[in-house]
Amino acid sequence: MTGSGPEVSRRSLLGAVGIGAAGLVVGGVAGATAASASDSLHEEASGIVPFYDGHQAGITTPPQDRVEIAAFDVTAPDRQSLIEMLQQWTSAASNMTAGQQAVAGGAVDGPPDAPPTDTGEALGLPASELTLTFGVGATLFRDATGKDRFGIANKRPANLIDMPAFPKDDLDPLLCGGDLVVQACANDAQVAFHAIRNLAREAHGSAVIRWVTQGFGRTAATSAPGQTTRNLFGFKDGTLTITDKEAKAQDDFVWAEASDGTPWMAGGTYLVARRIQQVIETWDRTSLEDQQKVIGRFKGSGAPLSGGTEFSPLDLTKTGPDGQPLIPTDAHVAVVSPEKHGGTRLLRRGYSFTDGVDDTGHLNAGLMFLAFVRNPATQFVPIQMSMSSSDHMNEYIKTHGSSLYAIPPGLTKPGQYWGQQIFA
Ligand code: HEM
Repeated sequence: MTGSGPEVSRRSLLGAVGIGAAGLVVGGVAGATAASASDSLHEEASGIVPFYDGHQAGITTPPQDRVEIAAFDVTAPDRQSLIEMLQQWTSAASNMTAGQQAVAGGAVDGPPDAPPTDTGEALGLPASELTLTFGVGATLFRDATGKDRFGIANKRPANLIDMPAFPKDDLDPLLCGGDLVVQACANDAQVAFHAIRNLAREAHGSAVIRWVTQGFGRTAATSAPGQTTRNLFGFKDGTLTITDKEAKAQDDFVWAEASDGTPWMAGGTYLVARRIQQVIETWDRTSLEDQQKVIGRFKGSGAPLSGGTEFSPLDLTKTGPDGQPLIPTDAHVAVVSPEKHGGTRLLRRGYSFTDGVDDTGHLNAGLMFLAFVRNPATQFVPIQMSMSSSDHMNEYIKTHGSSLYAIPPGLTKPGQYWGQQIFA
């Protein structure tokens, strides 16, 4: 049966006339479109984040409630097949972020004797601020055997480094790396899932999923200070990250420039993705006072143990009656703070995850740490090295996944495709 309700028709119509996200709603303001007034109102309420922009969405976009992030291994036999898949992905991505089907009319209006070209579970759901952020891993440029499969080895960005081994990491290779990555963020888990599922479906014969993580309860505040979300330790997480109001900090610490060594990456960034299990059972047997000493902040207010309110600066020198620093030197915030790292900051945009139980019967839950940085070697590596060697929190975490991807600049108009800068 190919029948469709009014919602399906609306989506099909929008897809058929090829209206991209940029033409619809930007920041809640309806743009000029061919859609009717009622369509515009509906889209305004549903939240569409523009797909075409100088920077990719999903980085400084105020964090949505959910993430579905997937890494892919490319199996395409040659360069042209890979380009065709990326072109198909880009078309689907611009459609889905606009609240449309991956392919217009794909769910129920296609030929009845062929598999649908949209899987259908997002029919009737609004765009939900879906963003799709695309990146490439080092193995796209040269695979593990050193082979330049797609003739792009000379395009590898200088800052897409091989990460050093971090002490205490307990990595599972199947939770690390991948040739491509797509981060889908949305306010509805089903919308985010639908996006990744349809990209995986379209990749058939050209790429397979290597790892995927679903997350919730964003641990980031890239929008102006409001209610900071709590992580699975029960602490506010994301208090001191780079917000969408800090243009200078974004230029300094997030967006790559041509002068960084790779002109095609100008306007892009690098994504550090670490899947960190939090040993919740051990944490839950730790006293409140000790929990606060591990983090260096008060659990209720999020204020530093040196005093003040949530957004007060840390005072790492202030001591208590016993002469010891109020924020212990091995507290997480003391170890990773910009004061200890020459002022360097990270744009953290992570999410909590749960994934059944591990092989010891403990909840397999934790933080999908996602940070966007301009220069991984100078920003992330030194902070992670300090954390690995001297952070009290190490007693309560196990890192099983660690990856680095180059996130190219955004696409500015229809017809361009993800990764085009690499193949140009
Ligand atoms: C499960 C793992 C982690 C947990 C539970 C965690 C938790 C927290 C909490 C509660 C805060 C204080 C609130 C805030 O400023 O957002 C914080 C801050 C911070 N964390 Fe983490 N974190 C984790 C992993 C990491 C990793 C892997 C890094 C980087 C290597 C990192 C870097 C930072 C930074 C840079 C800050 C801000 C410190 C400041 O500016 O003073 N965290 N984290």
